[in-house]
Amino acid sequence: MDLSVSIGSLRLANPLIAASGCFGYGVEYADIVDLSSLGAVAVKGLFLAEREGHPPPRIVETPSGMLNAIGLQGIGVRRFVAEKLPELRERRAVVFVNICGSTIDEYGEIARVLSDHEGVAAIELNISCPNIKEGGITFGCSLTGTHAVVSAVRKVTRLPVIPKLTPNVTDVASFARAAEEAGADAVSLVNTFLAMAIDVHTRRPRLSNIVGGLSGPAIRPIAVRMVYECRQVVRLPIIGIGGIASAEDVLEFMIAGATAVQVGTASFVDPFIWTKLLDGLRTYMARHGIDRLADVTGTIDTSKREQAWISS
Ligand SMILES: Cc1cc2nc3c(=O)[nH]c(=O)nc-3n(C[C@H](O)[C@H](O)[C@H](O)COP(=O)(O)O)c2cc1C
Repeated sequence: MDLSVSIGSLRLANPLIAASGCFGYGVEYADIVDLSSLGAVAVKGLFLAEREGHPPPRIVETPSGMLNAIGLQGIGVRRFVAEKLPELRERRAVVFVNICGSTIDEYGEIARVLSDHEGVAAIELNISCPNIKEGGITFGCSLTGTHAVVSAVRKVTRLPVIPKLTPNVTDVASFARAAEEAGADAVSLVNTFLAMAIDVHTRRPRLSNIVGGLSGPAIRPIAVRMVYECRQVVRLPIIGIGGIASAEDVLEFMIAGATAVQVGTASFVDPFIWTKLLDGLRTYMARHGIDRLADVTGTIDTSKREQAWISS
């Protein structure tokens, strides 16, 4: 059975990628997960400089998903390449480096640093960071901001560039198109959904940052819909993310149009989830007589179904 998938020139052994922020820098998991058995590892988002992130509480569980407002705590790109990348290389991990910038120049500068080092397979652009020059509006919530970040990074690196789209927009497909036009090699979606939770007894927000991002199974159907919508308008490979916790969930994203997927919150619940997912994918392939898992991508059958936009 062939579980490999291709994202542009990049060949992954299977479609499973550890989602950024949910797998540290990868090396922390190296004793319990064979990093080379994963399709890839997307490391925690990196700015140019070290960052402390928000004070606690930064994570809250809700009945329908997890809320986080970590504030992009990180060691900065230079410490990452010096302290983490060598071990990732040794462990033969396929490394996606997730990067954030407060300005377009910062994205470019981080990409330049990464391009000088062996062992980086792709750059994932977290465009959910506020653009300080434009008064704090998130790059990924503006079509021009999205286009500008992708083109700036495209200009300085030959590494595959994968912007990660935010779901906190009305028409996510137009953002995928902007990313494609700016020279992206793939898009990943989605990041977390803006959300909040309040302790009714103290009347205080549960997160120190007041608002945070919702992840986990609750967001999956929305993310699947967004992948499906993007598939209609771009030719780029799509990496589906959002609430994946079983092989069936992986397949749902692939059938909707994803080439690969990322798993975040579910790996906190079960750090050994990867073997379970791979076994489940093999079982599905055997049951349906599929030799190449990549053939599943985009095979959704919408015949005898008609989409009415206003359906409620
Ligand atoms: C604790 C936590 C930290 C995260 N940090 C990042 C990050 O640094 N960069 C990023 O692009 N996404 C980050 N994310 C978003 C995830 O990569 C993923 O897009 C999101 O959680 C949805 O997937 P899931 O439902 O499988 O968790 C983070 C998510 C969580 C829960």
